[in-house]
Amino acid sequence: MADIDDIEQPRATGLIPNEPDLEGLREAAAECTACPLYRNATQTVFGEGPDRAAIMFVGEQPGDYEDLAGHPFVGPAGKMLDRCIKEAGIDRRRAYVTNAVKHFKWVPRGTRRIHSKPNSMEIAACFPWLEAEIAAVKPKVVVALGATAAQALFGKAFRVTCERGRLVASRFAPYAMATVHPSSLLRAPDEETRHREIAHFTEDLRKAAALLKGR
Ligand code: URA
Ligand code: SF4
Repeated sequence: MADIDDIEQPRATGLIPNEPDLEGLREAAAECTACPLYRNATQTVFGEGPDRAAIMFVGEQPGDYEDLAGHPFVGPAGKMLDRCIKEAGIDRRRAYVTNAVKHFKWVPRGTRRIHSKPNSMEIAACFPWLEAEIAAVKPKVVVALGATAAQALFGKAFRVTCERGRLVASRFAPYAMATVHPSSLLRAPDEETRHREIAHFTEDLRKAAALLKGR
């Protein structure tokens, strides 16, 4: 019998096809209404990348640009991510890039749509999609970008600030780690901090890149 948590907590689980490949998942996720976030978003933004990518990056949720384009990490945070993963020696075309939550959550401010953090109900509702992506791609290394992805993957007690750049034992991949979200680099208060933060982020990504060697 379902307990009270199951009744209150929506989940995408029932929508996931049996033994899905990425295309099957992407099609099914396009129809997802498991939590309220689909209502105010343009479309589901599913993960993208080679179906056997050795490395997977997991962000928080699509932003304004991603919501309109239908692709993950194509806005300013995506440009920052591209630049730093390249600097770390990883080719974005060989990486699978996705988000913990697949619909854009926002609040209006004038004519603009301002990012709003997904809550734990929404993260849990969407988690089956991420889990299914990981099961389909089977990456060797999973990198959580920021607190939302890290807590979705490694639990609520996980603290990115304390544990960034370190290996985390995880059932999801042989190697897993977390670092900050690239959008945090865009919010640095001054140039010096920004440079330092970019260098630290790139250093974390280099550690992830090193795990890909020796296959
Ligand atoms: N921020 C994210 O976490 N994901 C995106 O796809 C874009 C911005
Ligand atoms: Fe489904 Fe995730 Fe979108 Fe919620 S955010 S409707 S769980 S795809």
